[in-house]
Amino acid sequence: MSAGHPRVDVLAAEARGAIERADSSVELEAVRVRFLGRQGALTQLLRSLGSLPDTERPMVGAAANEAKRELEALLDARLADAVARETRARREQARPDLTLPGRRPPRGGIHPLTRVHDEIVSIFLGLGFSVAEGPEIETDFYNFEALNIPRDHPARDMQDTFYVSESTLLRTHTSPVQIRTMQAAAGRVPVKIVVPGRVYRRDVPDASHSSVFHQVEGLAVDRHITMADLKGTLELFAREMFGPKSRIRFRPSFFPFTEPSAEVDVLCFMCGGQGCRACKQSGWLEILGSGMVHPQVLRNGGYDPEDVTGWAFGMGIERIAMLRYGVDDLRLFYENDVRFLRQFA
Ligand code: PHE
Repeated sequence: MSAGHPRVDVLAAEARGAIERADSSVELEAVRVRFLGRQGALTQLLRSLGSLPDTERPMVGAAANEAKRELEALLDARLADAVARETRARREQARPDLTLPGRRPPRGGIHPLTRVHDEIVSIFLGLGFSVAEGPEIETDFYNFEALNIPRDHPARDMQDTFYVSESTLLRTHTSPVQIRTMQAAAGRVPVKIVVPGRVYRRDVPDASHSSVFHQVEGLAVDRHITMADLKGTLELFAREMFGPKSRIRFRPSFFPFTEPSAEVDVLCFMCGGQGCRACKQSGWLEILGSGMVHPQVLRNGGYDPEDVTGWAFGMGIERIAMLRYGVDDLRLFYENDVRFLRQFA
């Protein structure tokens, strides 16, 4: 800048130095305030022109005004540079680093109940059974009457029921599909089905009870099949499901729709039959109910019990999953806590 007036020159030189040293928009803004702001040094100099002697005023005034223009231009140019630099830096930082490894979405797993369901069904598919299904809202007839459980039969208490109306209810077991399937077969044999499905009972939920749970029903009807076929089939099932060393035993039991009836235990696979907490020291785990289809039930299904025989079984998927995975509280299966579910992934 051309020499104006010593006071102005000193101030202008100071300002130029400050602008030179400032290397961010924030610092430049501070320099602007310091020299050109309302209280800035140059602004105050300009404001004080009036108090100068007449001889000095025009020269100082001209020099100060020129210095002001020069500094403003310098500041603007430097500020534009700084803003451009800072914008570039910000963009650089925000740009994704494409060389970083990706963040994988968490992988889901098959729910343990689905797993057990699939395994049970596939074992029976391998034995020549097919899958049948039936409604969850069922009639009293299919759920009870046709299965030999007449009104006032004590077995109805065993399966405390959610009623939808006088004659419809939430099925308490998958056994009504036995009747539906036999009727649909219209007297043809053989029938070999498994029926996976949801069932409902009015139970107070606790570690081993849930008002909604799952069963797999099995039904075979043919000319003169026997309890030996049932036993052989379930033995095979147990070996596939619980391992080749698995053994089963039949205990006499009672169901209104099978005669004779048997409860089936599998040798405790936790202790190998020695006795442990899982099998309550007995060495055996109860896994299902079964029996020869009652002649009256065959009749209700449209068969002549002189012509054909049948057997059936029903097992709880939750119970088998609990035994299989050592889960001691059924509710864990329904809470969908990923920390629990991850263990089965
Ligand atoms: N339906 C019976 C239950 O829910 C199980 C069962 C099915 C028993 C078939 C015998 C034959 O307990």
